Amino acid sequence: MEKFKYPDINPLRIEMSDECQVYKGLEGICVKESRICYIDGKGSRLYYRGYNIMDLVEHSKYEEVVYLLLFGELPSREELESFERKLASKRRLPDGLRGLIRSLPKDSDPMDFLRTTVSAMSLFDDGGDETEKGIGLIAKAPVMLAEFHRYRSGLEPLEPREELSQAGNFLYMMFGKVPEGSEERVMDRAFLLLADHGLCASTFASLVTASTLADIYASITTAIGTLAGPLHGGANLQVLKMLEEVGSPDRAESYVEGMLKSGKRIWGFGHRVYKNFDPRYRAFKRMAREMAELRGRMDLFETAEKVEEAALKRLAHKNIYPNVDFYSGLVYYFLGIPQDLAITMFAISRMAGWVAHILEYWEQNRLIRPKAKYVGELDKKYVPIEER
Ligand code: ACO
Repeated sequence: MEKFKYPDINPLRIEMSDECQVYKGLEGICVKESRICYIDGKGSRLYYRGYNIMDLVEHSKYEEVVYLLLFGELPSREELESFERKLASKRRLPDGLRGLIRSLPKDSDPMDFLRTTVSAMSLFDDGGDETEKGIGLIAKAPVMLAEFHRYRSGLEPLEPREELSQAGNFLYMMFGKVPEGSEERVMDRAFLLLADHGLCASTFASLVTASTLADIYASITTAIGTLAGPLHGGANLQVLKMLEEVGSPDRAESYVEGMLKSGKRIWGFGHRVYKNFDPRYRAFKRMAREMAELRGRMDLFETAEKVEEAALKRLAHKNIYPNVDFYSGLVYYFLGIPQDLAITMFAISRMAGWVAHILEYWEQNRLIRPKAKYVGELDKKYVPIEER
């Protein structure tokens, strides 16, 4: 048989790939076809599987929307009940994972905690296909976060309750009492509103990992790492800090003026896709107002509203409007959720969208492997270390 011959390499000719175009931030690039989420950035509309988010938040509960994201259709009553039972049955944490949680430093950054424990979930995996594992992640992530809250606060661990909804069980495990209906509904809506948002940075990052055929735990761990940054998930926490700094409604104008004059950004404003109001912002604002009234903290709500007005006056001409994070942090605050858990709240809600996109991507998987346009030098003369 003839011996295989590798192609010749011309030592004098270097193929430069400098024709490639650079798309900074991958703006405008589509990496897959998707049926999960559509964002109408100019028209201020968001759709999950073709349904307007405002209809879903008005009429559906979170579990229904998770089913919709994962399986493509709204469930029948029987399908929903069976899916709720499945989610509830997957909430209990394996003993090893509980032990791990209680061995971590109590002052762990909550996003570091979540990233670490989601990653560790693969070590306690109880089988099933990737969809089952994904549903397990959606079911367990809020339980792990509540367990972390109890542990670092010196509270006894609690068992999840199967008869409660995802939102109800989360609040029960956080605070040790079954929540009022109104609180549970607000929590449920907050989960629902953040359940997906197309190929945001964290979802895209999860697909990069998934595209190598690494498993769902590795892919979601990547997503959590990406969500942690202040330009993405971290903004809701920054909004709360900003409102603390502002202090009262009458200081909003001068605060915003000062921030913009010194070249700083107003947290909770601006979005890569929305060039108009983020529709989720409206829903969160309504809930923030309801909760502020309930808690007797209209002062805080009014401070936020004044900052919003002052920023809009100065930024709307650039199409910079409030995004989902402007009021979401306040809603969590009024629910009693500690400020530093704000980003993890985003993460446990988005778990549904991450899982849905990963499963969809695997249906037509292609390794994601972009390239960088090389602009450095070539063929430099090698200088031995003694002569440098
Ligand atoms: N405050 C003040 N000015 C802003 C803001 C803001 N929040 N956002 C954008 N701008 C200005 C920029 O300074 C820039 O002005 P210039 O053209 O005069 O230089 C212009 O608007 C365009 O800004 P870009 O950074 O190019 O817009 P991009 O699409 O890259 O940024 C981003 C989007 C990162 C969200 C940005 O608006 C921002 O930093 N916002 C604050 C952080 C935030 O709220 N993040 C949450 C996003 S939503 C989410 O991930 C859940």
